Amino acid sequence: MQQAIAILDSGVGGLTVVREVMRQLPQEKVIYFGDTARTPYGPRQAEEVVEFTLQIVQYLTQFNPKMVVIACNTATALAVRAIRASVTIPVLGVIHPGARAAIKSTRNGRVGVIGTENTIKSGAYQHALQMISPNLKVESLACPHLVPIVEQGLFRSAEAWETVRTSLAPLRTSSIDCLILGCTHYPFLSEAISEVMGTGVKLINSAEETAREISAILYHRGQLAASGDVPVHQFFCSGDPAKFQHIAQEWLGDQIAHTPVVWQMARL
Ligand code: DGL
Repeated sequence: MQQAIAILDSGVGGLTVVREVMRQLPQEKVIYFGDTARTPYGPRQAEEVVEFTLQIVQYLTQFNPKMVVIACNTATALAVRAIRASVTIPVLGVIHPGARAAIKSTRNGRVGVIGTENTIKSGAYQHALQMISPNLKVESLACPHLVPIVEQGLFRSAEAWETVRTSLAPLRTSSIDCLILGCTHYPFLSEAISEVMGTGVKLINSAEETAREISAILYHRGQLAASGDVPVHQFFCSGDPAKFQHIAQEWLGDQIAHTPVVWQMARL
């Protein structure tokens, strides 16, 4: 049986990484877990985020995946070390790939980061960026109202545009030339974010770089899916399955239109 790439998030946000993984690595099987019953992780206690993430990884390991991708910045910031210590397969987070993509993109050395309260408070992006490029100037902003809008499936609504406008107001006068979407839910809102920030600010979505890194890790380990493998993807969520499936199908569109997919609800 084909070994999968296990991908997890507090909810539907990690689907932004899944879409890019499916695009770059169409032969790979994906097993996804969205903890929609307990989202958002952004305002939770750090210990709780670590505990929930460990539970999900433990759940996913029953399927014998070949690697784990923490497609959640909050869980990456707070739990990546604990997860690495708990499994023997490679564990990849989204913060370092996002930081690298921003370093590649910035011309003026001023980078913005938006994320959940926990991600911004952790300073994980600042650390990841300045570890590679110490002279970068980083402007960080927590945007706690964006995740609930995406989880409710309202990312195309007028309310979403208004909330994006208000949330990003503090960054509009800054001189950043790129903005890291430091929460995997935010690419759902990228049209609005892009309009609010203007054409001078490039949006950085860590999904592309993360998928590239997954590809490199699997290549170096000799674990890329064999050519001709037809994956059967599995999606689990802990909350309302109909709502999750609706958002996932809308977001993933063509990527799953012609591929077998199994949808299940999971209790942790
Ligand atoms: N998608 C998540 C992230 O990248 C988590 C959002 C949340 O649960 O607050 O941080």
